[in-house]
Amino acid sequence: MTHARTGGAGHPSPHGAQDAVPDAAVAPVGSVRRIARPRQRERPAPLYWAAMKHIGVLTSGGDAPGMNAGIRAVVRTAIHDRLRVSGIYRGYQGLIDDDIVELGPRSVANIIQRGGTILRTARCDAFLQPEGRAHAADALRKRGIDGLVVIGGDGSFRGAHRLHAEQGIPVVGIPATIDNDIYGTDVSIGFNTAINIALEAVDRLRDTAASHDRLFLVEVMGRDSGHIALHVGVAGGAEAILLPEDVVPADDVADMIVAAQDRGKSSSVVIVAEGAYEGGAMALQSAVKARCGYEVRTVILGHTQRGGSPTTRDRVLASRLGFHAVRALQLGAADVMVGIDQREVVRVPLADLERNTKDIDRELMELATILAI
Ligand code: F6P
Repeated sequence: MTHARTGGAGHPSPHGAQDAVPDAAVAPVGSVRRIARPRQRERPAPLYWAAMKHIGVLTSGGDAPGMNAGIRAVVRTAIHDRLRVSGIYRGYQGLIDDDIVELGPRSVANIIQRGGTILRTARCDAFLQPEGRAHAADALRKRGIDGLVVIGGDGSFRGAHRLHAEQGIPVVGIPATIDNDIYGTDVSIGFNTAINIALEAVDRLRDTAASHDRLFLVEVMGRDSGHIALHVGVAGGAEAILLPEDVVPADDVADMIVAAQDRGKSSSVVIVAEGAYEGGAMALQSAVKARCGYEVRTVILGHTQRGGSPTTRDRVLASRLGFHAVRALQLGAADVMVGIDQREVVRVPLADLERNTKDIDRELMELATILAI
């Protein structure tokens, strides 16, 4: 994957570090605060920085731990760079409803450690239509917002791409979904936290599985992708990992379990991606139960994987991408996502995301099979 590399945090800034945070009057509004317009300094900014004066930020789609860290980074980088920044509530729905507040550096205090999103999120049907997007663009223009940062998943980016194509709004996406299924970035915000939460559950289930000589089918999220299942399966020492990318017929799963019993295994944990079977792990349970000698229990981890305090990795990732998204907008980027390619921040055209999918790590899958002997 070769995508445009971005500059680091140290690339030329029009502002000295000593005048980083402007004076601002803030008043609380729900969990974020409104802010009076920051005082502008006299010093002129280089031309390419000057076009972007006011940016908006929203979170969209399923929430992911680390979104708050991303909002914080966007808000504080913008203010550091002397931009105004507004938060849009409930994703694209808030844009259509004009549910927008201006933010200051203190509006995002004490949120880096919190899961969920202080801006709230929604899946917005109206934005799927050109009229909805036109309405959203009007709301941005009315408020003088020159560019938009969208923190979300591939569905949110499809909307962002159309908003740019139809209405000319500069948009930069930040990948945030526990599913980690976004093309163009090695990792998305929330994935690391989600797999660690799921892994903790698997470790607990292993204790009780071993005590009772049972088989546990553990269903993890991921919609149509198996990235969560694969990582949790490898880290949790699963007997089998069942993915939508590589569907194994239920009878073959039963055969694998029986073969493992024959090799001397007295209990087993199998990780099932929610998209692997119609009806998920519950459907698999009845098919497997009849064939193998174990008592079978099924656990669906569900939305527990989406909550909780983000890991260090997700906080750092969100902080980096939030910073780079704001800098990308100022440098004239539009219709791109900032992502990670082998530790470096890259910019990926949103159109590329529509044309490509992100495959699972086949090598990791092979490794899982070898280590399950
Ligand atoms: O995309 C994130 C995700 O958590 C998927 O893993 C899951 O399939 C879906 O969202 C659940 O969506 P909802 O919160 O609308 O039930």
